[in-house]
Amino acid sequence: MGNRAHEEGQEKQQVPLLTPYKMGEFQLSHRIVLAPLTRQRSYGNIPQPHAILYYSQRATRGGFILTEATGVSDTAQGYPYTPGIWTKEQVEAWKPIVDAVHAKGAIFFCQIWHVGRVSSTVFQPNEQAPVSCTDKGLAPQVRANGVDVAQFSPPRRLTTDEIPQIVNDFRLAARNAIEAGFDGVEIHGAHGYLIDQFFKDQVNDRTDQFGGSLENRCRFALEIAEAVTNEVGAYRVGMRLSPFANFMECADSNPKALGLYMAEALNKYGLLYCHMVEPRMRTVMEKSECPHSLLPMRKAFKGTFIAAGGYDREDGNKAIAENRADLVAYGRHFLANPDLPKRFELNAPLNKYNRETFYIPDPVVGYTDYPFLEETA
Ligand SMILES: Cc1cc2nc3c(=O)[nH]c(=O)nc-3n(C[C@H](O)[C@H](O)[C@H](O)COP(=O)(O)O)c2cc1C
Repeated sequence: MGNRAHEEGQEKQQVPLLTPYKMGEFQLSHRIVLAPLTRQRSYGNIPQPHAILYYSQRATRGGFILTEATGVSDTAQGYPYTPGIWTKEQVEAWKPIVDAVHAKGAIFFCQIWHVGRVSSTVFQPNEQAPVSCTDKGLAPQVRANGVDVAQFSPPRRLTTDEIPQIVNDFRLAARNAIEAGFDGVEIHGAHGYLIDQFFKDQVNDRTDQFGGSLENRCRFALEIAEAVTNEVGAYRVGMRLSPFANFMECADSNPKALGLYMAEALNKYGLLYCHMVEPRMRTVMEKSECPHSLLPMRKAFKGTFIAAGGYDREDGNKAIAENRADLVAYGRHFLANPDLPKRFELNAPLNKYNRETFYIPDPVVGYTDYPFLEETA
């Protein structure tokens, strides 16, 4: 072995993010996860052929990647051109995308999602009101580009009797994801969407068994976890949570208790992983100093723990080296650097992300045109 190869071998050993990890039955070759990233390029809520290139660009042998948030039903949408997984046509459209990712040797989970009140009548069947745990509306929010303002319609509070139907939509979406070839599903319980609306006491004002106490506010998420794990097997189900975030006016008065309760409750269903957003992420993209940490939740949860939010190479390596997480999910850096694991391995400079093209419907620009390392050199 030449000196160079020897040195590279040594360098690799010093990069904790590039060490292998066994997540349940999935053998991962490194710990850099593609975070779920809504890209709004799925016209008619159907995943499009351009997603084949996008996801396979980010797939590596033994890497773990997540889809963008994917709607579980026709009431689950709140943004233009987000994909779904409730119709046969959508399932068929996902298949070539999944196949391409598998051809590169990656593990691919589908993030299943319901926006709840983060929607408006234009996204709803028959222009009906969006559904939520509450009928409290959401004030207009400035969009990610910092200019546009999103408007929301007042939601309709789900009756107790209607809740099993939504739980069932998640179950069917998970079944469909497996049918499409995904290796598993991630239940989206973060960022102010439907499940998070049930969790957080700023939003949940119910008086039935789905509101009030912490236990009651977590019931909806746990019924979904139970239904989904019964349907497809806990060994391929994860859940994403952001107890500390207040995105979409969805905050809790005791986020630590919420995070801990959920970490412990998910153990009961044997979930493969818990994917938690760092407390420093008060909204999806805004990082701020925060005295809290995910450590209590990391310790409480028995499966794989994925941390996300504001990580760079150094910070991610530190989290792995200090055993604060098993895996680290990268959002914006992975969006802009399709070869992020390679760049981290070489400690190469990163492409800068352009937030103006995060959500445009263009099938190429800001999507599949971020350069790989060889091209920049
Ligand atoms: C363009 C964009 C789209 C996002 N879409 C989703 C999503 O669909 N589901 C989700 O759980 N989080 C979503 N997020 C949050 C990211 O997964 C991640 O938690 C966030 O970007 C913070 O991580 P970062 O600092 O590595 O970017 C999105 C973030 C961005 C920037």
